[in-house]
Parts: sequence; C-alpha cells; structure tokens
Amino acid sequence: GSAKLTLDPAFEVGPVERRLFGSFVEHMGRCVYTGVFEPGHPEADGDGLRRDVIELTREMGVTAVRYPGGNFVSNYDWEDGVGPSADRPTRLDLAWRQIETNAFGLGEFMTWLREVDAEPVMAVNLGTRGVRAARDLLEYTNFPGGTRWSDLRIKHGTREPYGIKVWCLGNEMDGPWQIGGKTAEEYGRLALETAKAMRRVDPSIELVACGSSNPHMPTFGSWEATVLEHCYDQVDYISTHAYYDAVGGDRASFLASAVQMERQIHDVISTADHVAAKLGSRKRLKLSFDEWNVWSQSLFGGEQSLDWEQAPRIIEEDYDVAGAAVVGSLLITLLNNADRVGIACQAQLANVIAPIRTEPGGPAWRQTIFHPFALTAAHARGRVLRVQATAPNMPTEEFGEVPVLAAAATLDDERRLSVFAVNRGDEPLPLEIDLRGLPRGTDISHITVADADTAARNTEREPRRVEPRALDGAVIDGDRLKAVLPPISFNVLKAQ
Ligand code: AHR
Repeated sequence: GSAKLTLDPAFEVGPVERRLFGSFVEHMGRCVYTGVFEPGHPEADGDGLRRDVIELTREMGVTAVRYPGGNFVSNYDWEDGVGPSADRPTRLDLAWRQIETNAFGLGEFMTWLREVDAEPVMAVNLGTRGVRAARDLLEYTNFPGGTRWSDLRIKHGTREPYGIKVWCLGNEMDGPWQIGGKTAEEYGRLALETAKAMRRVDPSIELVACGSSNPHMPTFGSWEATVLEHCYDQVDYISTHAYYDAVGGDRASFLASAVQMERQIHDVISTADHVAAKLGSRKRLKLSFDEWNVWSQSLFGGEQSLDWEQAPRIIEEDYDVAGAAVVGSLLITLLNNADRVGIACQAQLANVIAPIRTEPGGPAWRQTIFHPFALTAAHARGRVLRVQATAPNMPTEEFGEVPVLAAAATLDDERRLSVFAVNRGDEPLPLEIDLRGLPRGTDISHITVADADTAARNTEREPRRVEPRALDGAVIDGDRLKAVLPPISFNVLKAQ
C-alpha cells in the first residue's frame, strides 16, 4: 500500500511552541552526577559542568529544562543546594534511595542552563513541604533585592534575579510512591494556596498544576477534575506524564504508542475544559506534557530495589531504531496538538532514560532517540499545518487497526515546508504529499533515521552506529511531493 498526505497552508493547528522541545534533569541516578556535572572530568569546565554534554544538549535543540525532579523534588530542601559547596549537607534522597551530596544545586543548574541556552521549568516541593518553602524559593530566584531571600541570592554571587517564569506545583502528587503524596482534595487546596502566595511574590509567573502520573492511574480524569475545581483560576497548565514500554506488550502496539499519547492529550484537555464549563470560565488551560519517553518500566525493580548509593546506575535504557521511530511519532503527536500542548519535556536528558549517555571520566554519545528529537527541534519552525492523511493500517493488540503512517508538517515564515513522518510498518511506504497552495520549489531533501537492523543501538564502543542519513529519490511531480519511507523509520522531508 501507499500513503497520502494533503497539506494546505490555509489549515493550521497553531504556532510551533518552542517549549515543546523541553527536557528534564532530575537528581536521579547519573543524570546530574557524572551526567551533566562531573568536576575533574577532562571535559569539565571551571564549574564542573561537562562541556561535551553541554554541546550535545545544544545540538539536540533543547529549549526548556525541568528541574530538580521528578519524585526527587518531593523530599528536597532547595536551601541545601545554594551557597558555598563546602557548607552543603549530605542528605538521604528518599525517592530513589540515593545519597545526595548537594554539590549541584540551583546556582549550578542556572549556570548550566545559560550554557545550553534553554529556559528553566522549576518544580517546588509540595510533598514534605508547602506554601512557605515555595514562596521563599521564588523570592530567592525572582525578587530583585532588599529582602531576606533575595539578599541571600546576591550574597551567593547572583545580583540580577534569575527571573524564572514556569513553575510546577509539585510532582506526581497522586502517586502512592510519592513522598508526601496527597488526595485530589488535599492537593487541589494546597496547589491553590501555593499558587496564590507565589503570585503575590511575582505575578508574572506561569504555574503548572499536577495532573495524573499516567493514564492508567485509577483516578485518571477524576484527579484532574477535582484538583482543577480548586485551583483552575490560579494555574495556567495542567501536567500529564507518560512512558511507553518497549518490552511490556506486542511490538506493533509499542510502535503505535503515539495513539495512546493522542488519547491522553484529548482526555486531559477535555477534563480541563469540563471544569472551565462548570466554573463558567472562558479561560483555557494548556497541557504541560512534562514527562514523556520510551521506558521499559516493566524491567525496573522499583525504588525498594535501590540501596543508598551516590549516583547509581538507575534505568539507563539502551534505545534502538524502533525506539527512535516511537520517539519520533510522539514528537509528531505533540506537534499536531500544539494548540493545546504548551510545554513538553522528554524525560530525562542524560543517562536516566536519556538521549545522551556518558561514562564517568569517559565519553558522551548520542543514543538513537537523540536524532528524531534533534531533527524535529531543528526543522519544526513557524506554524503547524493540519495534516489530512490516508495510509494502510496495521493490526495491534492494544489499539486495534492503526495507520502505519504518523505525520506532522510545519511551514516557516519563509514558506519552507518540513514534513515529519514515521513509518511504523515493516515494509517501505511510498508517500505522496498533495502540496496545494504550498511552494513547489525544487530544493527537496529527505533525511531518515532507519536501519536494516531495527534493534541497532549506539554504544560506547560504537557511538555512531545509528545516525540520520540523507536519502535520494524524493521528487516533486506536478503538485505532489513523492518519497519512500524505509521500514520502521523516522523521516524529515523538506521542500523550498
Ligand atoms: O523520570 C523518572 C520518574 O518518573 C520521575 O521521577 C517521576 O516523576 C516519574 O514517575
């Protein structure tokens, strides 16, 4: 079979929100320690930041970074991570049963962020702490000076406020695993009161309320409704998280993971809009999809399997070509919902379920999933166009019949077209794109992430086994762009 896309510049979803290309740095495993931060590493700068990881993060095109957790934040005292490092306490991190030295904290993170040229998405602890610690932290980061916490920042060497805009009101507060987890009623009230206090300190901030930890939670849907009935007027985003398991079920369902993401986006948005209707509010929330990725979670032994180490090797997932195709289809889904998804963070950045891998004292390299992210962040510019697609179906255990093609398209201000397309099928897929009112320049390019061996991976010994390649054969024929997508592949087609 073959697939067909119809694109028309008159039909668009909305602007490409740059915050869709976010990532996530948690104090977990080796994401921070020996990931982004490793004093004494040959590549480390004067602040202990690994320059090789900074370069790769820039190359990926990461625009926003969520920090410091994740489950970690729910037992974290932010004050431990500021000021002279010699004075910082070593603590027990209850989320991942790790020893936390606090050698890396807010100041180091903000210095790193400047180097990678991205904005922070900062989370506050609403597990073991609450309103007070959140407003104090905001005073430390955003208040100009002349008060206890802002003067402490200045004493710590940062005269200008950090001006952090986006704040997450806790993390996965519905999870029984969360330290200080809450019922929807308890959390809804706490989110409201924390938001109120934080907005008094700085009215210009944007706030994210915690939605469900995943769509399989027993309270999915009702959690969002109850929480938002309390805090709707005070927040701008509702969060949602999802991980797609490469080993849990049948392969076809894994390749079709984006179907699940699409449903989840619609379910959470509908719930938020339902609350708006109930409250008689014209305001509309956006979604912060602030944790998403492929993660073979069924292989993880749980927090109890971990044992008080410092920077342990936790969930260092190895990604293959099929995983890259799935990540590509998830990015496509985020783009196609750009009218309602305002922030998205792939979890995580380094080592822990991550596109970037490092060895302590050794090299850093790109996993397969690095490539669809980097290509999409680089080429998705301007406005997202609505795609009308027809494609052959493939059977999946979880979702029934699913089209083999996932596609999104963007058109930039110079009328350059980028089409992002995943072939989920095991056969090459001929694709025809009806360009209608779009430019039909002759400058066509086709880049693919594919391999005859769909289980191929990048490793320390073979870090460039899987890389994007240019393909010949894409042509303009009348008002159509024609190309063939390799089996299990992520593709970018450009026309100008
Ligand atoms: O990203 C790993 C963990 O997954 C995060 O700490 C948590 O928020 C989620 O359950």
